[in-house]
Amino acid sequence: MRAFRHRLNRFREDATLAHSDTAEPTRRDFLYIATGAMGAVGAGALAWPFIDQMNPDASALALASIEVDVSAVEEGQSITVKWRGKPVFIRYRTETEINEATSVPIGDLPDQLARNSNLPDGAEATDANRAAEGMEQWLVQVGICTHLGCVPLGSSGDFGGWFCPCHGSHYDTAGRIRKGPAPENLLIPPFEFVSDTTIKIG
Ligand code: FES
Repeated sequence: MRAFRHRLNRFREDATLAHSDTAEPTRRDFLYIATGAMGAVGAGALAWPFIDQMNPDASALALASIEVDVSAVEEGQSITVKWRGKPVFIRYRTETEINEATSVPIGDLPDQLARNSNLPDGAEATDANRAAEGMEQWLVQVGICTHLGCVPLGSSGDFGGWFCPCHGSHYDTAGRIRKGPAPENLLIPPFEFVSDTTIKIG
């Protein structure tokens, strides 16, 4: 009988210990869960402004691409439009300007890449690769000097194309750098003629 009581008491003690062993992790678990929940709330609060910024508003979407009516632009004239906050030069080239550009050997060009967003990266800077496909009288370029970002002047410079007065970069009638510190030809943005007289940029 005494032995039975002793075993019963041991059993009760073990049961009490077992209960407190499970109770302690339960409180800890709650703390982990609570901390995790706070962390999740914190992360959500931090992430929101970034997510919000990644959703362009209607005005930004409207500027993603523009359509330009060039029906009033005459041969030899150029217009500048704004696309995604940047100036874009659209030039209706003369026969003489096209001939001057096509007669230049690729080897004479400081930058021999077309820099045409419509073509693969390695495309050569031939006049055909710079001009609008099938409409080579038209040149569409981002009007930002590739040196330090000034806006070049049209129909000027030693090569009859554009001249950047900031540090003296000369571009030819295909928008290719020919003289001065600018390292690259003027960038050609993604564009296409959606009709004979309408250019979609972007
Ligand atoms: S920014 Fe055009 S030459 Fe320097």
